[in-house]
Amino acid sequence: MNLSKRPDDMQRITNSKLAEAFIADQIAAIKAQVGDNKVLLALSGGVDSSVVAALLNLAIGKQLVSVHVNTGLMRKGESEEVIEVFRDQLDVNLVYVDAAKRFLNALEGVADPEEKRKIIGAEFIRVFEEEARKLDDIAYLAQGTIYPDILESDSVKAHHNVGGLPDDMHFELVEPVRLLYKDEVRMVGSTLDLPYRMVNRQPFPGPGLGVRCLGAITQDRLDAVRESDAILTEEVYRNRSENEIWQYFTVIPDFRTTGVKDGKRVYEWPVIIRAVNSVDAMEASIPPIPHTMLNRITRRILEEVPGVCRVLYDLSPKPPSTIEWE
Ligand code: XMP
Repeated sequence: MNLSKRPDDMQRITNSKLAEAFIADQIAAIKAQVGDNKVLLALSGGVDSSVVAALLNLAIGKQLVSVHVNTGLMRKGESEEVIEVFRDQLDVNLVYVDAAKRFLNALEGVADPEEKRKIIGAEFIRVFEEEARKLDDIAYLAQGTIYPDILESDSVKAHHNVGGLPDDMHFELVEPVRLLYKDEVRMVGSTLDLPYRMVNRQPFPGPGLGVRCLGAITQDRLDAVRESDAILTEEVYRNRSENEIWQYFTVIPDFRTTGVKDGKRVYEWPVIIRAVNSVDAMEASIPPIPHTMLNRITRRILEEVPGVCRVLYDLSPKPPSTIEWE
């Protein structure tokens, strides 16, 4: 049964016992829905698609074909972790597509944020479709849709939704976590023994680092935004602040700034630190991050990230600023 509304009496999944019951129910429901058929899943490595992959793996094992597209716009180590967890540890059928060059080529010279989003969305669908067409007899498509996605028919979603599969590809949808809120998906994920970092991943936009490397994307800035983001993340975890900050990342603008390195003037990129708290992304506030932590992050970025000579900290709430810079 594919309910589109959460029943009023549905119990909130707040502990692993309730999560275990949910998992058992969903395994039975998935088996009943798909029988012996194969199911295709786009596995990004975010918490929702990861939980769906783990559930489907338990329910139907090798009937699941998951596809991970590395857009080249992923965070550091993200694609590697998908391969390690799903292919190496869980023995999931995983097709890994390294499409980084394709995405960069398609984005070459494009500076407008909405244009970038459209290109990334369209390219993703194209790559995924190419992989889907190589596979025979797939009638089902699994998705990590969660309840807020269904409720959110507003401008955020419209602005973020970048496409769908072509009309001639007909799939029946399998959406096992469609009635769950994010915290419930995380509870199910940790009960399924997915790694802590994967289960607690902060929201990451579909276009990924593509909208954090401002303006027309260049490889040097893309590498620098990925490295600085990894340093920020490491330090947030070191301070055990990962559950206190809702979303944190770095941004690199498309202008340079003057600095001094080894006694010589340089003309390099600035890095902007963004960290916000929010409930639903509609409004955001700035959490109090200790100065010692900010200083350490700044020092590490300046020492470890090539091509960067300045670090800035964005203190703007939403509204009027958006969370992302593009
Ligand atoms: P803004 O920047 O609009 O972001 O305040 C609100 C939330 O949405 C995320 N975001 C996106 N998510 N595709 C997505 O899937 C997008 O194009 C996109 N743009 C922003 C952002 O990270 C924040 O959590």
